[in-house]
Amino acid sequence: KTIVKKVNDIIHDKEAIDEAGEILKSGGLVAFPTETVYGLGADALNEEAAAKIYEAKGRPSDNPLIIHIAKLEDLAKIVTEIPEKAEALASAFWPGPLTLILNKASCVPYGTTGGLETVAVRMPDWEIARAVIEAGGGYIAAPSANTSGKPSPTNAARVLEDMTGKIEMIVDGGEVSIGLESTIVDLTVEPPQILRPGAITKSMLRNTIGEIIDGGKEIGTQSGPKAPGMKYKHYAPRGQLVIIKGEPRAVAEKINELAREKRAQGFTVGVLATTESAYLYPDEQVRIIGTRQDDASIAKGLYESLRSFDDMGVDYIYSEAFAEKGMGKAIMNRLVKAAGHAIINLTKEDK
Ligand code: TXA
Ligand code: MG
Repeated sequence: KTIVKKVNDIIHDKEAIDEAGEILKSGGLVAFPTETVYGLGADALNEEAAAKIYEAKGRPSDNPLIIHIAKLEDLAKIVTEIPEKAEALASAFWPGPLTLILNKASCVPYGTTGGLETVAVRMPDWEIARAVIEAGGGYIAAPSANTSGKPSPTNAARVLEDMTGKIEMIVDGGEVSIGLESTIVDLTVEPPQILRPGAITKSMLRNTIGEIIDGGKEIGTQSGPKAPGMKYKHYAPRGQLVIIKGEPRAVAEKINELAREKRAQGFTVGVLATTESAYLYPDEQVRIIGTRQDDASIAKGLYESLRSFDDMGVDYIYSEAFAEKGMGKAIMNRLVKAAGHAIINLTKEDK
């Protein structure tokens, strides 16, 4: 029932893209690759189509969707105005892994924004994504194409795993290049706030628009979560993930100790480590997520690593922590949410 079409380039595979466009225009669901993660697309200006997304994902309907556009000039139609800072960020980072929150125009249904007066917009940096968006009418609502709560899909096989029979089509464009969702910036407040960290870092944003602050932290630390998605457990594997922070050898010792305990109780254990530290753990438990020399490799490997532990039926996953600078901020943000905030901190200087 769910057709999968391989698309390598937009010229040779135009037929598949047109087919995706027809499905979207008639109110259906099509998953497609972007540079960040696979998206689950529907016509954003068609309330009924957007509603199908929530059903396919099992996502609470007050969690708003991002509208994806293919051309900068298409932005004006869906927002009340384009502030100077939005203009500056769009010209610096679009197409790319950056989502802007702006005040919505009346043509954007509340079914897409989760009842909010604001709308999230992004122009993705993948030709295939933009071709699908264009073919589908130009305004495509697309959350990550996973079942709500699970790690986002970074390849078509993972989309198929979650969405078989629930959507009309999957455009298979291979592996994504970044592997973590876009940075979200709220421009309806002053100073602007980062609601979700991603590949476009705080310093990159600051260089373009000046002052910007971290917002929408976590439940309980402020009156209400700014990005409504933050209320729910996110990005999580089936097994219980625990993060261990500290000096590398102490971390490995602790992880191996915990792993021995759990195995003695009959549980299956997995360890998430890097090229640098993998030798410290038993071969049959460890999975290398990437190298500490290159944050991007870790970002790219994170969700697939978590999902592969699920494939193996792992009950407990122990992960090393990563430095929270640059892209590391986004990596730790997702890892901490996937762990449901289960962190063991071995560092002393913690106040
Ligand atoms: O990289 C990405 O952004 C991917 C690809 C497919 O483009 N999409 C994605 O969508 O991550 P999703 O739905 O999984 O995450 C969207 C986030 C949610 O946390 C949602 O709450 C927030 O954006 N969001 C959307 N509209 C918002 C709004 N008007 N105000 C505040 N947060 C909003
Ligand atoms: Mg998501």
